Amino acid sequence: MSDSDKELRVAKIQSGTVIDHIRAGQALNVLTILGIEGTSGEQVSIGMNVPSGTLAHKDVVKVEGRELSQDEVDVLSLIAPDATINIVRDYEVVEKHRVERPESVRGVLSCPNHNCITNAKEPVDTEFAVLGDGVRCAYCETIIREDIAAHITD
Ligand code: CTP
Ligand code: ZN
Repeated sequence: MSDSDKELRVAKIQSGTVIDHIRAGQALNVLTILGIEGTSGEQVSIGMNVPSGTLAHKDVVKVEGRELSQDEVDVLSLIAPDATINIVRDYEVVEKHRVERPESVRGVLSCPNHNCITNAKEPVDTEFAVLGDGVRCAYCETIIREDIAAHITD
């Protein structure tokens, strides 16, 4: 067996998106962000704790026939700051970019502070400033550092 055969853990895809260099342990959260539950017939391959050059181990998620929206990439950047998004067509990577952390995210995270105006009866859209190591509610300044994925809405 050649070295490249030994390295291939998850088959190449024909066309779609490969999210590579995901922080180990975050693959399932990536699926949550993409709204993938596996019940709609999507073809998805997942590699977890795969050896990687730059990170000691990484996760990889490959989705056939799908490209990601900027909103999805923005949220991904919060839990997988080193991820690369590879667009594949006809088995070739035709586009590759690192995710970039946006300055803020709107309407994608819920504030854990029950007294926050974003949790009031007539809710205001949430907005969080993106910090080096977490996110801060623009309304009540609550900071979420751990497990940001648990606060993702819909
Ligand atoms: N990939 C895939 N299907 C394809 C082409 C690529 O699943 N048809 C995957 C590769 O397995 C890899 C990622 O997409 O996980 C990026 O592919 P490529 O750019 O060829 O690999 P590298 O050069 O190793 O990427 P990087 O430099 O970003 O680590
Ligand atoms: Zn708040």
